[in-house]
Amino acid sequence: MRPGDLRDWLAAVEATGELRTVRGAHWHLEIGALCELDYRLPTPWALLFDDIPDYPRGRRVLAGAAASPARLGLTLRLGPDHSTLDLIQALRGQLTRWAARAAEFAPREVADGPVLEHVYEGDAVDLTAFPAPFWHEGDGGRYIGTGGLLLTRDPETGWINGGTYRMQLLDRNRLGLFALTGKHARIHLDKYAALQEPCPVVVSLGHDPLFALLGGIEVPYGVSELAYAGAIAGEPVEVLRSPLTRLPLPARAEIVAEGFVYPGDTAPEGPYGEFHGYYSAAEAPQPVIHVKRLLHRRDPILLGSPPGRPPHDYSYWASILRSAVVFDALVEAGVPDVRAVWQHPCGGARMLLVVSIRQRYPGHARQAGHVAAQCRGGGQVGRYVIVVDEDIDPTDLEQVMWAVATRSDPVRDIDLIRRAWGSQVDPQFVTLPEGGLTNTRAIIDACRPWEFRDVFPPVVGASPELLARVRARWGALLGLGQ
Ligand SMILES: Cc1cc2nc3c(=O)[nH]c(=O)nc-3n(C[C@H](O)[C@H](O)[C@H](O)COP(=O)(O)O)c2cc1C
Repeated sequence: MRPGDLRDWLAAVEATGELRTVRGAHWHLEIGALCELDYRLPTPWALLFDDIPDYPRGRRVLAGAAASPARLGLTLRLGPDHSTLDLIQALRGQLTRWAARAAEFAPREVADGPVLEHVYEGDAVDLTAFPAPFWHEGDGGRYIGTGGLLLTRDPETGWINGGTYRMQLLDRNRLGLFALTGKHARIHLDKYAALQEPCPVVVSLGHDPLFALLGGIEVPYGVSELAYAGAIAGEPVEVLRSPLTRLPLPARAEIVAEGFVYPGDTAPEGPYGEFHGYYSAAEAPQPVIHVKRLLHRRDPILLGSPPGRPPHDYSYWASILRSAVVFDALVEAGVPDVRAVWQHPCGGARMLLVVSIRQRYPGHARQAGHVAAQCRGGGQVGRYVIVVDEDIDPTDLEQVMWAVATRSDPVRDIDLIRRAWGSQVDPQFVTLPEGGLTNTRAIIDACRPWEFRDVFPPVVGASPELLARVRARWGALLGLGQ
């Protein structure tokens, strides 16, 4: 699979039997609602929508791309035969290794590529030519950029960032861009605004879902997501050099739009059904991308990735990848004996983070909790960080809450961090004009207190040997087998 090429990816997924083509679903709400039904299945399908009313056959939308272990494994080039647990295991330390190798896989400039099959400039640009879905009934409009990748350059260092940020279709040549404070693209936009210069941008709207995975997680500042994708695929991403923005254009992308964001120029955007399961604030002014050039392949495919009440399009893979980001950050910060990390999907892979450790010294649990709460993968719009001992499986909420209920004392074991990095889409604050620019974190230390660890009452439960013995004798009676 060539990195960036969605057609290669589709061929590989078709071979797994996990791809379904849906014909005739309407872009207005039907595609979104069908996706919602899909995400609630134990193993959601990848859905390719074709014959969309008002659009010619071939103008397609793909959703649910990496919502199963097989497809996430394929997208990360780890193969399709992994369980969720295997993937978590395989990713330990792997993100750091890929990031370290990114420089060796800088994008390769090419002279030609399938994205040049159709090129429009100036007045010929028409973004309404693609079946951008109206995903949720309460959305403020049609969202064309949901699984996209926005490329921006840091005007001071030249570094090119790739990030996934929602984009509303405003009209034929304008997109509303929602990049929250502190996000890399937002920092770049602010730097251009301070210079009173237009910010050049490129957005890929359909591609190998690997681009959306990397655009959607916390890749370190200064690392190019395109190079990172090359490191994962083991070959560089092919790009064309734009004569307009001088930014790289992914040559094998389905649809690429490029143009400028002008300082101070905003338009009403939103609301939009967000990753935590609530609508974001009512319509609010956001930066606008003025699209000057549009390129696409023949019969292009939009990559859709709608959020909503979890499970949603990306809650599965975001939990796995963001857990791996936090795991690596803990290790890099020198926190020893981290056993596992889990960003729970029910917290939108941000708001409920559990870390299990093997306690080695007094203060170890608080150290793990505070680092997890403040590293980039756990830093934004977090809410609760729970630290548990190694006998607790952090992915099992029943076990986690048992530890909270029995091993922590509220006064002693809950630390608060005030005025931490918040978000305009935090459901607690959407009624405020600026949203929750900062919020509070609770770190719950649910480990056995260090000083009592040797006298803490033992856990009740038959020993594995006793259980095995009685199961062998009477298990069948309970329908347990051997
Ligand atoms: C499908 C999807 C949609 C997202 N939408 C937004 C968004 O609209 N605004 C935003 O600030 N972050 C959004 N995010 C989160 C960012 O992509 C994420 O924080 C990422 O790290 C941003 O890139 P950066 O670290 O280079 O800024 C989205 C993530 C995904 C996976």
